Amino acid sequence: MQPSLTRIRDRFDIVEVPLIDGKPTLGAEVAAGLRGSPKSLPSKLLYDDVGSALFDAITRLPEYYLTRAESEILRESGWEIVRALDGPVALLELGSGSAVKTRILIEEALRAQRQVRYSPIDISADALRASSHALVESYHDLAITAYAGDYFDVLGSGMLQRDGRTLAMLMGSNIGNYEPGAAARLMRLLAGALRPGDGLLLGSDLKKDAATLERAYDDAIGLTAAFERNAIARLNREFGGGTDPRAFAHLARYDAQRGSVDSFLVAQHDLRLELAEIGVYADVACGERIHVESSYKFSDAQIAQLGSAAGLERVRTWHDRLAQFSVDLFVRR
Ligand code: TRP
Repeated sequence: MQPSLTRIRDRFDIVEVPLIDGKPTLGAEVAAGLRGSPKSLPSKLLYDDVGSALFDAITRLPEYYLTRAESEILRESGWEIVRALDGPVALLELGSGSAVKTRILIEEALRAQRQVRYSPIDISADALRASSHALVESYHDLAITAYAGDYFDVLGSGMLQRDGRTLAMLMGSNIGNYEPGAAARLMRLLAGALRPGDGLLLGSDLKKDAATLERAYDDAIGLTAAFERNAIARLNREFGGGTDPRAFAHLARYDAQRGSVDSFLVAQHDLRLELAEIGVYADVACGERIHVESSYKFSDAQIAQLGSAAGLERVRTWHDRLAQFSVDLFVRR
């Protein structure tokens, strides 16, 4: 039977979670980062419409092994993953879930149980509407409650409604984009949103040789460089700047000590970043680096530790064939 439009609408609901008062605006974060020494920009600048499309393309690059490795694990072991908790599961994902890997788990869950509720959390209500509409159209027995807001705000809001077993998902090594303190806080908040017997599925990139890592974040055709330069284009658009994004080169360096690949925009000549609307006039010297994002890499012990520090017990670990990536299931006791 073809689902009617009303039925599709009946199976999609979006909850907009307001920003918590007193949180700095994007403009304030940008200004603070550019006044700092060394300079930095908030990585959320990367993920506007253009940035999200570029990132989607990055996940298909030969150099960016992360997405392929994670998808391989979910294809191989998805059936095991959705059956590892007792009872039918509802999926709760941090991220908008347009990706192939979300579909793999939804399909596996639909094989194990009659209906599935999927709840993505994402900062962009537009992204949520688009990805949810496509998912609800694909699967008749899927219902979606989406939450638009910052992960921390949504998890802390008490607005999450759950019935039955929850399998939370934090995939794509997104946990690695948080500084260690923030990663620990996010894990605690997530654990706090779960009830005993619920699970967390965590996708983490494993530590490996610097060359492989740096290639993944600095590809041969320059997609990642464009992804980073888009931050400058966005500053121009949103805060009244006029800096040529091509005045910056992209640099990715693996710092084995910290265990992170750090991405920078490097000025190719002396310039002044003027963002009149937020009162920023930052002089940038030729060769000066602006830090844009870190992608932490993990050892197996660090992954277990991420969970245990949040009161979660690790019950299973899956690797891809080349052991580049880890998917771990934690349970709240
Ligand atoms: N979560 C992704 C990662 O850390 C984001 C990402 C991919 C990224 N390529 C990037 C961030 C390049 C900054 C620069 O792998």
